Amino acid sequence: MTKLVYTPEELLASHPFAEYHMAAGHKLHGGFDPQGSYVPPRSLHRIPAIAAWQSEVERKGWKLIDCSADLLKMGNYPSPEQQWFLLENGLELTMWNSLTIAGVIEGRGALLASFPAPDFQSIIVEDISAMCIGHLNKGLLVAHGWDEGGNPQTDIGAHNKMWFAARDALFGAGAYGRAEVPESITRPESGRLMPQIPPEHEQYLLLLMNLTMIEVRAEATFRFNETVVKNPDAFKSNRKGANLAADLIDRIRMDENIHVASLRVMLSEFRELTIKTVDGGTVRGKDMFDRLWAPMIAYHTGEAFEFSRNQTRESLKRQILALPGGDNLFAKFDSLEHRALAAE
Ligand SMILES: [Fe+2]
Ligand SMILES: [Fe+2]
Repeated sequence: MTKLVYTPEELLASHPFAEYHMAAGHKLHGGFDPQGSYVPPRSLHRIPAIAAWQSEVERKGWKLIDCSADLLKMGNYPSPEQQWFLLENGLELTMWNSLTIAGVIEGRGALLASFPAPDFQSIIVEDISAMCIGHLNKGLLVAHGWDEGGNPQTDIGAHNKMWFAARDALFGAGAYGRAEVPESITRPESGRLMPQIPPEHEQYLLLLMNLTMIEVRAEATFRFNETVVKNPDAFKSNRKGANLAADLIDRIRMDENIHVASLRVMLSEFRELTIKTVDGGTVRGKDMFDRLWAPMIAYHTGEAFEFSRNQTRESLKRQILALPGGDNLFAKFDSLEHRALAAE
C-alpha cells in the first residue's frame, strides 16, 4: 500500500548528498547526486509524499486546482530588453538591487517554520491524517520555511542566500551596497471572508492561497532572470558567473516546484472536504474556496502586478534621470517595456 502518513523527521530528511552546495562563496542548502545533478534539500521523502497525496486526490476523482504559470498574464517588469538596456548604460546597480530584494523577500518566508498552522482536523469532518493538509504541522511548513530562509540552527543559506549568490556571481561580492526592500506583497486584509470558520483558520487559508500565488508569480521572475543572464551578449566578460547565476536560479525553481506542488494538493484537498461551520453545520470546502480563489488570482496577476510595476518604474526612473541625457534614456527605456510572459 502507498505510504500516506509521514513523521516530521521523514518530511525533513535530505538525501545523502555526494557533494554539498557551495556557490560564489555562499554555503547553500541542497546538494548534488553522484551524477552532479542538484537535489533539493529535505526532499528524500517530501517529494514522494506529495506525489502520493496527489495520486490520492486523482484516484478519488477530485479536481486538482490549476497552479501553473498559465495563470500569469504578465511577464516581469522590467522586461529583459529593458534590463539589458540598463546594463548597457552602466545601471547594473538596478539588477544588483532586484536580486538583493528577491533574496530578502524570500528570507521572510522563514516565518512559516516558526508559526504552526491551526489544527485543521478540528474543522474538517473527514480524517485528514493521510492527506497533505494533515501534514502542515508534521514537517511540511517547517521544511517550506527553511527552504526560503534557512534553518536558524545552521549556517546553511536557503533561497535568501541563493539569490545573493546569483547576484555575487554576476557582479562580485560587495560590488554595491544594501537595497531598499518593499513591504509585504500579500493581499491586504479586507475583513472576514469566510465567517463560517474560526478566524485563525480563515487567516491561515488566506495565507496559503496568497503564498500559492506568490510562488506561481515567482516563475515570471525566474524566466526574466534566466533570459537576462543567458544572453551571450550580456555579462560578456563574466560568462562563467552568468552561467552560475542561471544554474542557481534553476535550483531555486526546482525547490519552489515542491512548494507549489504541496500547496496545490492541500488546497485541492480542502475544496473537496466537508468543513464544520461555527454555527454547528457543515459546508463543502469548494463553496468557500472557489469564491475567493478567482479574485485571489485576479489580484496577484492584476492589481499586485501593477502596483509593483509602478513602484519599480518610479525607482528606475529616478536612477535613469540622474544620468547625462537621462530624459532620452528614460524614453528609450519605457519603449522597451512589453507585458507578455516569455514562453518557457
Ligand atoms: Fe523560495
Ligand atoms: Fe517557495
